[in-house]
Amino acid sequence: MTFSLLVLYGSYRETRAGIRLADYCVARLAARGHDVSLIDAKAIGLPMLDKRYMDYPPGEAPEAMEELAQTLRAADGFVFVAGEYNWGIQPGLKNLVDHFGNPEWGGRPAGLVSYSAGRMAGARSSSAWHPTLSSLGMAVVPSTVAVGGITGSLDESGTPIGEGGSALERSFAGFAAELEWWAQAAKDRKARG
Ligand SMILES: Cc1cc2nc3c(=O)[nH]c(=O)nc-3n(C[C@H](O)[C@H](O)[C@H](O)COP(=O)(O)O)c2cc1C
Repeated sequence: MTFSLLVLYGSYRETRAGIRLADYCVARLAARGHDVSLIDAKAIGLPMLDKRYMDYPPGEAPEAMEELAQTLRAADGFVFVAGEYNWGIQPGLKNLVDHFGNPEWGGRPAGLVSYSAGRMAGARSSSAWHPTLSSLGMAVVPSTVAVGGITGSLDESGTPIGEGGSALERSFAGFAAELEWWAQAAKDRKARG
């Protein structure tokens, strides 16, 4: 079964490293036959939150917000590539997420793929995202992927390298299979109305 999946990433830093992991997730999910797009918060460039999508009368939201709302609604599932800043979540991705509500996010699975420069692999960020994604109506899949030493685990093209890269390869397939299971479950439920 082919699913429409979105990989979301939100560092705005010029020297950002997490884009390697976002690219890796896109490539691996596409290799499993899915229709995958990267949602790069920096490239989309929503402003710091003022009005949410739901605060605009229908058809009056700014174009980038309207386009993203349609893209989110059409997805079968989400993968959040979660970096860790000061034991917490990255503001760029949180800002993008907060612009939308349950109609755009809800009723579908979300998987968490965390990373950091250190050995904690963004685990604290992953834990912090969990209730936020749940509050928006996503079913957060039990499996998570965590990548420590990000620049030593993936090269600039998003190719796994070293021990960290091997560990990522071992964990990603099971994670993806679980995301697919939940995406199918959500699709089946939706089909029943
Ligand atoms: C503001 C800031 C705070 C950080 N805090 C943490 C942290 O709490 N835990 C951690 O493991 N790494 C931390 N780091 C290191 C990041 O894991 C590392 O820089 C990573 O590459 C950030 O993701 P990005 O390159 O995609 O922006 C921090 C980095 C920055 C810039």
